Amino acid sequence: MKKVNYFQPYCLKTLMTPSFEDQILALREVINRYNLHYYTHDEPIITDAEYDRKIQQLRQLESENPEFKTPDSPTQKVGGAVLSAFSKVNHEIPMLSLGNVYSAEELEAFVERLNNRLDTRDDLLFCVEPKLDGLAISLLYVKGHLLRAATRGDGRIGEDVTHNIKTIKNIPLTLKGQHIPELIEIRGEVVMPLADFNAYNQVAEQQGQKRFANPRNAAAGSLRQLDSKITATRPLAFYSYGIGQVSSEALPDSHYQRLLQIKAWGLPLSQEVERQGSVQGCLNYYHSILQKRDNLPYEIDGVVYKIDDIKLQEKLGFVSRAPRWATAHKFPAQEEQTLLLDVEFQVGRTGAITPVAILEPVFVGGVTVSRASLHNKDEIARLGLSRGDTVVIRRAADVIPQVTSRLAEKNPHFEAIIFPDLCPVCQSELEQIADEATIRCSAGLFCAAQRKQAIQYFSSRKTMNIDGLGEKVVEQLVDADLISTPADLYGLHADQLVELERMGPKKAENLINAIHQSKQTTFARFLLAMGIREVGEATVNNLTEHFLTLQRLQQADKEALQAVDDVGEVVAQHIIHFFRQSHNVEVIEALLEAGIHWPQLTAKPQKSLPLSGKTYVLTGTLTQMKRNEAKVLLQTLGAKISASVSAKTDCVVAGESAGSKLLKARELGIAIIDEEQLQVLLASLQNSTG
Ligand code: IVH
Repeated sequence: MKKVNYFQPYCLKTLMTPSFEDQILALREVINRYNLHYYTHDEPIITDAEYDRKIQQLRQLESENPEFKTPDSPTQKVGGAVLSAFSKVNHEIPMLSLGNVYSAEELEAFVERLNNRLDTRDDLLFCVEPKLDGLAISLLYVKGHLLRAATRGDGRIGEDVTHNIKTIKNIPLTLKGQHIPELIEIRGEVVMPLADFNAYNQVAEQQGQKRFANPRNAAAGSLRQLDSKITATRPLAFYSYGIGQVSSEALPDSHYQRLLQIKAWGLPLSQEVERQGSVQGCLNYYHSILQKRDNLPYEIDGVVYKIDDIKLQEKLGFVSRAPRWATAHKFPAQEEQTLLLDVEFQVGRTGAITPVAILEPVFVGGVTVSRASLHNKDEIARLGLSRGDTVVIRRAADVIPQVTSRLAEKNPHFEAIIFPDLCPVCQSELEQIADEATIRCSAGLFCAAQRKQAIQYFSSRKTMNIDGLGEKVVEQLVDADLISTPADLYGLHADQLVELERMGPKKAENLINAIHQSKQTTFARFLLAMGIREVGEATVNNLTEHFLTLQRLQQADKEALQAVDDVGEVVAQHIIHFFRQSHNVEVIEALLEAGIHWPQLTAKPQKSLPLSGKTYVLTGTLTQMKRNEAKVLLQTLGAKISASVSAKTDCVVAGESAGSKLLKARELGIAIIDEEQLQVLLASLQNSTG
């Protein structure tokens, strides 16, 4: 008998490694479980990145051990089971999936396989497209009318979601133009545009409602509504990427030309679709789209390369689950899973208590993340978090990393995360305003955390601009009880400062000078420095231009405040609340006494411009000009630009994939123009003003 030395790692490994068949069976079991959660329950229990790794592993094991390949393996199937709530739809031509490549080498190998199969060395022409991260949908048009819309389902049988699809604004109910086949099935992706996804989650967070984990879940959840009135309130958009069944043969022989034909019939097509004639061209495309990723209106998880010549596509055909003539080149994942080590409760400038997840560091979206936002108390409860849980971290676009879900079954021995009852810094009571999800420390400037941040905000670049008064210095000054309000800064002496860490006499003198210089300021900077809730730069400018003096602003009632652009009921209430608090008034008086002053503002002469007195809102993506450019042009014609649609709005400019603002404008019966109409308007008004 062979002797085994149990202390040798090699032998241990040999003893413990299961057979290939066992590994394959185990992988299939876990992947089937993931599929069930993902497709059937709409609740992933693993990140896409982890899923892709598992599928790759299984595919490799199966290809190295073909004797264990079976038709029921998850590598041979597409999608998941069909939900029973919607009626079933048979896909005459199955809706398939795509193979993946992750590197230049894998792409080269893919193209080489194509060349070998086609028996050619010529450069192949590819149609290259962004890989939208949403939900695959089939749209069946008969005699040019949208007859039926279905999800992919398991690839052969999908769900009939016609009623819901008909609420999506950029899907035409009737095709326009010429040579429309008697029957044509358009395939593409339904997405929730990123701007709308972020706005939706922000509102959900404020109202203590459930957030969507990511735009794809948002699109899927919105389409799976049984009540299409709910779907109609969700800002969804569709982009075409191919054709399924078609009754006529009179279509172009090029995939790219077919997409342009689809576009000409009125269906949306991503602006990023183009053609590339070489591997290098495809790679350049990959990198340029990767760079643009954060600025695209929708979330993408890679690009897709498709042989452009339809005849070659037909020649290459399919392997069980995917076409041989196309592959996806995946981007680095924006979601990864990691361990939740702890939760810290931070106190913000306005007292908001924000839970922050402390994580086992994980590489996601190109950086290592060890902290992520957990938003608020409701979110912790919704996720049901405990220390030691495995969580999904999402780091997308320029949004701070967030915990979006908890994975796997709960371990009952883990310690649940409990939201504190008292402020973690000053131990004061916490309060929650009705209809707000945020919980705040009630102590205001009596809380050291709020004091430090209020003083720091007061001295920052956009406010009083006190050079050299950084976070560390403010922290030391507050901890040493040298200051407790911004007004105390003006009573500091250099000899008090030299006592602080890393503060020599020269630095102390410079800081005292900077504090002194800050006394000469502007009304807008001073008002911004007060840190009134939801009163940012734009609002401050509107307020100061409107009221001209601090005294008039302080005396303004709710009605007077709401007459100012961009000031709604909530902001007006915050302003009134701020000026009613005696300690705020005391600080203001002390600051003015210390010598803070600004040039007196005078009313601007009312120039009569063509759009004077009109309020415009810009929403969606403009394709011919930048949003900021449109904003400036409208402003030079006298228009006010507002960020939100209200009864005060005169006109909404709706670009591509405009969402909730467009809906609101429709609800309120406000004039809506598209980009083309905007161009015409600008041109005619610019001409009229010379
Ligand atoms: S082509 C037969 N093109 O990716 C080819 N798919 O992983 C089928 N997707 O189910 C798909 N953008 O939901 C294609 N430009 C694009 C795509 C795209 C996103 C999705 C689609 C598909 C999945 C495959």
